[in-house]
Amino acid sequence: MSDARPARSPSPEFASAWELAGQIPGWLTRDQALALWDAALRVPRGGRIVEIGSHQGRSTAVLGEAARLAGASVVAVDPFVEGRLFGGPLTRKRFEDNVFHRAGLAEVVELIPEYSTVLRPTWNRPIALLYVDGKHDYWTFTDDLRWSEHLPPDAEVLVHDAFSSIGVTGGVAVRVLCGSRYTFLDRTGSLARFRLRRPTPRDRLRVLAQTPWFLRNVAVKVLLRLRLRPLTRLLSHRGPHDPY
Ligand SMILES: C[S@@+](CC[C@H](N)C(=O)[O-])C[C@H]1O[C@@H](n2cnc3c(N)ncnc32)[C@H](O)[C@@H]1O
Repeated sequence: MSDARPARSPSPEFASAWELAGQIPGWLTRDQALALWDAALRVPRGGRIVEIGSHQGRSTAVLGEAARLAGASVVAVDPFVEGRLFGGPLTRKRFEDNVFHRAGLAEVVELIPEYSTVLRPTWNRPIALLYVDGKHDYWTFTDDLRWSEHLPPDAEVLVHDAFSSIGVTGGVAVRVLCGSRYTFLDRTGSLARFRLRRPTPRDRLRVLAQTPWFLRNVAVKVLLRLRLRPLTRLLSHRGPHDPY
């Protein structure tokens, strides 16, 4: 029982959106982009998608293009934190180049350069779809889940690294496995889809069943940091990057 989403053929519209988005540096895989795309297309006309953590705009470009087709809009929240990994103001400039100029999504995407945890307490606009890929520690992630207070019942919440980051997976264990608000639907790699609906005992078991996948991802990360990349092939991992 893997709960991995089955692969399927994407539409020409997705292929064209991914042709651009796939060139933007980031961590989202093509199959995960397709999961985001499908979720964005399910948003009702006039609905708002909130993305927490945008970096250079890889996922934003996918959500934005799907939102344009659906007649929806996207709010991208990212403070563009400084540092070697995320890059600070230069990353913001790249986001604006990629999303507003190259993808031409200025009419669809609104950028709010702020910490999600600072913005959340005063946020008062309805949200139709939430995508969480910001800071991956337990406290920030569980705070980010609270944005779902602005979603209607049965809406979707998508979370990147849900089963590949200790902080995020810890949050999933506490808020989803032990909570009563989110039902796990499926995952693409470690991008998980949840629905705002009380989980059944069976739904909780399906979250628990992701434990081997999570432990495998942690093992791959440890091996990569120990420079033991050849051993990661034993865990069916390819390439030098962390599993997402
Ligand atoms: C993994 S990257 C996002 C990748 C992006 N979704 C993509 O597809 O390329 C994480 C981003 O979260 C941002 N971030 C860190 N703390 C944040 C916070 N509290 N609120 C919103 N974004 C945050 C970082 O600046 C970084 O750009």
